[in-house]
Amino acid sequence: MKETKSPQGGYHILTYGCQMNSRDTEIIGGLLEQEGYSKVPLEEAELVVFNTCSVRHSAENKVYGKLGEVMKIKRSQPGMIVAFGGCMAQLPEVVQKLKRKGVDIVFGTHNLHQLPVLLDRIKSGENQVIEVWNRHGEIIENLPSTRREGVSAFVNIMYGCNNFCSYCIVPYTRGRERSRSARDIVREMEQLAGEGFKEVTLLGQNVNSYGRGASEIMDFAGLLQLADKVDGLERIRFMTSHPKDMSDALIDTIAAGEKLCEHIHVPLQAGSNRVLKRMNRGYTREHYLELVHKMRERIPGVSVTSDLIVGFPGESEADFADTLDMVEKVRFDAAFTFMYSVRTGTRAANFEDQIELPVKQERLMQLNKLQYDIALQKNQALEGRTLEILVDGPSKTNPERLTGRTRTNHIVIFSGPKDLIGQLINVKITAGKTFSIFGEIPAD
Ligand code: SAH
Ligand code: SF4
Ligand code: F3S
Repeated sequence: MKETKSPQGGYHILTYGCQMNSRDTEIIGGLLEQEGYSKVPLEEAELVVFNTCSVRHSAENKVYGKLGEVMKIKRSQPGMIVAFGGCMAQLPEVVQKLKRKGVDIVFGTHNLHQLPVLLDRIKSGENQVIEVWNRHGEIIENLPSTRREGVSAFVNIMYGCNNFCSYCIVPYTRGRERSRSARDIVREMEQLAGEGFKEVTLLGQNVNSYGRGASEIMDFAGLLQLADKVDGLERIRFMTSHPKDMSDALIDTIAAGEKLCEHIHVPLQAGSNRVLKRMNRGYTREHYLELVHKMRERIPGVSVTSDLIVGFPGESEADFADTLDMVEKVRFDAAFTFMYSVRTGTRAANFEDQIELPVKQERLMQLNKLQYDIALQKNQALEGRTLEILVDGPSKTNPERLTGRTRTNHIVIFSGPKDLIGQLINVKITAGKTFSIFGEIPAD
């Protein structure tokens, strides 16, 4: 590893999107700190890095809004450097726009490790540096990272996606699927346990296909069995699961695991077989129902959460009713719900039967209403129970209180001393609401 260089200025990273990006931000931060930069608030930064998401139009809009603000500051502070990376930077039409806007550096998801070199080029007088690889290179291990001590950490187990769901930009921005070796993953987990982390979330776009195509013969169930044995960790989570690749062996492994948490995020996306087919998801509603049945039968108390899209091209009232019907049948513990958003370059962007915005809005409202009712009922059913939580830290909505998560990933808000952070404790659930659950530490 390189030695840290002489002090540079302050940097600030603006992070959008999923956990993959949060993890990448830790690596970008690590690379910059190795170069001598130090983390500062946005107002004091000489180097501003955008780590962006392009999964929906709204995500891109947010980024462009902030970029406008930052470029305005840059005009009054000529020495300031603006670097732009992440999923948006992989898209050629975005790069064209960034060129025109005068962004100093554009780098992609496959070459974020090059950021220090690109910075050097700007500092040695180049006007604008655009370096975006359109294909991934070898997986690079042992990059520095700013993962500071804490309770919970993300660990990548694989990168990219081969599924090409017809609505989704991710395979274009993150490239083909490739897995890290089990040895490297376990080593990182052991290191994190040594640093005091209690929980690790294993990350991949489709964790169920871990190891596919790799020379080492190890599937996701095998990896989880190894992970479960890492001393010092208390809990292991993973996301995202894909319904088409969820094997019986995997369900049994989760059931048998000691640290493997009883929570499976397994996006359904839509309830109609016709829509699922046009989405290229590779399963039917019947298969999904059977899967949920198996998970609930074999993993007692498992929570099942999902992502759902309304207004996919050609979605009729009957198709949408199928989504509502599935939500009623499955009764998800929680679901992220989205309006379909056209992504240029994906297959569904060319479908001619796009749905009007007001229809999508109306459907999203109906879906949310149903899902919120279900979540409320499920949360209320927890009242009076005593559950083990891992205390994360101060509550975001209620900073004088603490929050922790149950093994099933329910967030519980409660009052208690700060030295409980990082500990496993029992709390009694006092009130289950739609978006939050309240608890208290039992008197004895
Ligand atoms: N790899 C994960 C998540 C990918 S992105 C998976 O396969 O489930 C997270 C979620 O964003 C997806 O599950 C999907 O529900 C949603 N999403 C992706 N593309 C979208 C689009 N074009 N419009 C609306 N929602 C989208
Ligand atoms: Fe996108 Fe589908 Fe891959 Fe998930 S599995 S990242 S939704 S293409
Ligand atoms: Fe967004 Fe890229 Fe993640 S598009 S959801 S940041 S993989």
